[in-house]
Amino acid sequence: MNKVNNNKIGRNDPCPCGSGKKYKKCCMNSTKDPEILKHESKKQEYKNKYNIILKEPHQIEGIKKSGRLLLSILEKVEKMIEPGITTDMINDLVHKEHLKAGAIPAPLNYRGFPKSVCTSVNEVICHGIPGDRVLKDHDIINVDVTPILNNYYADASKTFFVGAPSEDGQKIVNIARESLKRGINAVKPDATLGDIGFAIQDYAESLGCSVVREFIGHGVGIDFHEQPQVLHYGVRGEGIKLVPGMVFTIEPMINLGAKELHILDDNWTAVTNDKSLSAQFEQTILVTEDGYESLTPFEL
Ligand code: MF3
Ligand code: CO
Ligand code: CO
Repeated sequence: MNKVNNNKIGRNDPCPCGSGKKYKKCCMNSTKDPEILKHESKKQEYKNKYNIILKEPHQIEGIKKSGRLLLSILEKVEKMIEPGITTDMINDLVHKEHLKAGAIPAPLNYRGFPKSVCTSVNEVICHGIPGDRVLKDHDIINVDVTPILNNYYADASKTFFVGAPSEDGQKIVNIARESLKRGINAVKPDATLGDIGFAIQDYAESLGCSVVREFIGHGVGIDFHEQPQVLHYGVRGEGIKLVPGMVFTIEPMINLGAKELHILDDNWTAVTNDKSLSAQFEQTILVTEDGYESLTPFEL
């Protein structure tokens, strides 16, 4: 069958392969697999409509490699965490591990961020700046790592216990972990971004916790923060439809108390207004033909 009609692309329309040429001067008479043409036309549509970059297999491979490095760094961080260390010591380790692997820590100098990793302790929601703060028994700490390896970004974080967990610490960390798990499980082609947000909000609020609104997940891979914006609250069926090749983070920040926050004088550190504990887990997720694949996989 003629591929023009198949894909509803006019002879004079821009070619869906992204060449910038007219369709008739490019792929119109090509023998390309219709599945590939379909992907190319989706790619063009998502770029034009939403500025979302659907990723090609070689780009996914690149993000995955960056993700592997990220996970190896988080494992080393986990081993060093104990009462008495400072958040600067975590920064030093994370920074050195990037350099050893030929990677760049994306946070460093990002919009003026002064360190190579975010370390967010207890009531700090996110974007904590490593410094001379000493970790103590019962603290919780989120460590958020974003390497650039061969120009590909991967973004993930975990919240760790320092020493023995407190009851509240245990509770909020478990709920934040399960929130990410439920968000990820909502990912499949034809689901929407609203489905992800709903899954998270419905779960966290049912347990009396709150979902932070000011910080959200994001497209990632070619750049640190790409489209789309991934809200951690929402309505089922609303928002952009997920399609294979989308790569974005899900990174719900869950507070034990109220959702309201303020930013400290350093212009970065976000803390809960009521000083309640906040926890977060983040992974970089690819939408596949039949569901999802984590490009920064760890057990949830
Ligand atoms: N890694 C964070 C995120 O998940 C962003 C940190 S921006 C920084 O999006 F500048 F604080 F590093
Ligand atoms: Co992120
Ligand atoms: Co992150």
